[in-house]
Amino acid sequence: MSFSSKLIAWYEKYGRELPWRQTSDPYIIWLSEIILQQTRVEQGLPYFQTFVTQLPTVRDFAEAEEDFILRLWQGLGYYSRARNMHKAAKTVMSNFNGAFPTSYEEVIQLPGIGAYTASAISSFSSNEVRAVVDGNVYRVLSRVFGIDTDINSGTGKKQFQELADSLISTSQPGLYNQAIMDFGATVCKPKQPLCAACIFADQCDAFATNRVDLLPRKVKT
Ligand code: ADE
Repeated sequence: MSFSSKLIAWYEKYGRELPWRQTSDPYIIWLSEIILQQTRVEQGLPYFQTFVTQLPTVRDFAEAEEDFILRLWQGLGYYSRARNMHKAAKTVMSNFNGAFPTSYEEVIQLPGIGAYTASAISSFSSNEVRAVVDGNVYRVLSRVFGIDTDINSGTGKKQFQELADSLISTSQPGLYNQAIMDFGATVCKPKQPLCAACIFADQCDAFATNRVDLLPRKVKT
């Protein structure tokens, strides 16, 4: 079985049910992904629920007072995220007539959206084949494939993006992206990973060479 088929089969059995996974609405997916940048799922969940309830559409978000948004954001930190979201919502109203875009090339133009978020939104909302690379993905790929390139270096970023692009399921890209992030968060964890129960134990380079706790390699900046 291919890497992506194994991962998807694992996800269908063990993946977490998270509220933003029940939708293909790019606005809702965008909300969840920006909230989850630098924020743990458990911490982000109640904020996500509040935003969806208080600002159910991108129009509501664009027309809200900045103070109101910042109040809802309180406790999440990195307030530039909230300010960029307000700008992005206004851009969606003016440039896209209120219809939140789903394509990678369009969403990456919006303030606060980089390659990771554009890949997440486009793959989850419209199954565009765009591989996400976040901390979870660096961990899973560096360990399974035994790659010790520094993930903070330009070379490392390029190498991992290329590997991720070569592994993504082209028939179920959104599902695959959710699966690899979930796998990294719950099995291939930073500390005390569950190697004994891992579907890749028999092919994991880091496990075979006793380097699980050394990977990914991250040179302090
Ligand atoms: N962290 C960032 N995006 C996520 C997602 N879609 N599911 C779980 N954790 C995430």
